[in-house]
Amino acid sequence: MIILKNERDVEAMRAAGAVASTVLHEVCAWITPGVTTKEIDNFAASRIKSHGAKSAFLGYRKYPCHVCLSVNEQVVHGLASNRRLDFGDIVSTDVGVIYEGYIGDTARTVAVGGCDVLAQKLIDVTERALYEGIARALLGNRVVDISRAIQSYVERNGFSVVREFVGHGVGRSMHEEPQIPNYVDGKSSPKLRPGMTLAIEPMVNAGSPAVEILADGWTVVTKDGQPSAHFEHTVLITEGEPEILTCPEKTQLKLKAE
Ligand code: MF3
Ligand code: CO
Ligand code: CO
Repeated sequence: MIILKNERDVEAMRAAGAVASTVLHEVCAWITPGVTTKEIDNFAASRIKSHGAKSAFLGYRKYPCHVCLSVNEQVVHGLASNRRLDFGDIVSTDVGVIYEGYIGDTARTVAVGGCDVLAQKLIDVTERALYEGIARALLGNRVVDISRAIQSYVERNGFSVVREFVGHGVGRSMHEEPQIPNYVDGKSSPKLRPGMTLAIEPMVNAGSPAVEILADGWTVVTKDGQPSAHFEHTVLITEGEPEILTCPEKTQLKLKAE
């Protein structure tokens, strides 16, 4: 069942989205050569707390970290560790927060200091693929129209989309219906309706789409060891243009603390 949000829900989702995107911005700005992913996770935890929110990930199916930090060939769900980031690494940072009962979910991949041309193209194509998908998040379309736009943009640019992990509805729960694949899967696809709140999140591999899970039970990596990137926004379907709920620039965040 797809949960449509009313105006009160939407107001709360705007607030949760503002917190999530503000934290993502703060964390990405803090990432620099020489820091460990554990230090980043600790920083993220303190930012989430100071905004009066909670991590939506910590404890979710026993996930042990506050944010997901996935480096280079890691696709998603990377675990914080004593690994020190190097100049040239790329880090996919995924922030999910619970704020006054609602969830905001947003991710981006950033270069640590800088990165090579291929990795930068991967980052750019993945971000653009997200916006290609969002541009189709329109009343009258179906979920598959989002999926198709993402897949075709990625493949036109010589990269591949991950199949095993998908976007999702989001609200009071992190993962609501519908699933939002980043490829056309040939299954029946729901119509988009005003009041749907969707986490659209292309995961894009430089090489083959194949992934596997490491022995830690969480970290998803590319099978071929090539890099991967991940961008995500929480988006509201309206009668008109889709509204991105995870833009710190758009929503004035009223800080609870500080
Ligand atoms: N943030 C992921 C998503 O975008 C879910 C992470 S689940 C966790 O759907 F347990 F790994 F945190
Ligand atoms: Co996410
Ligand atoms: Co998500």
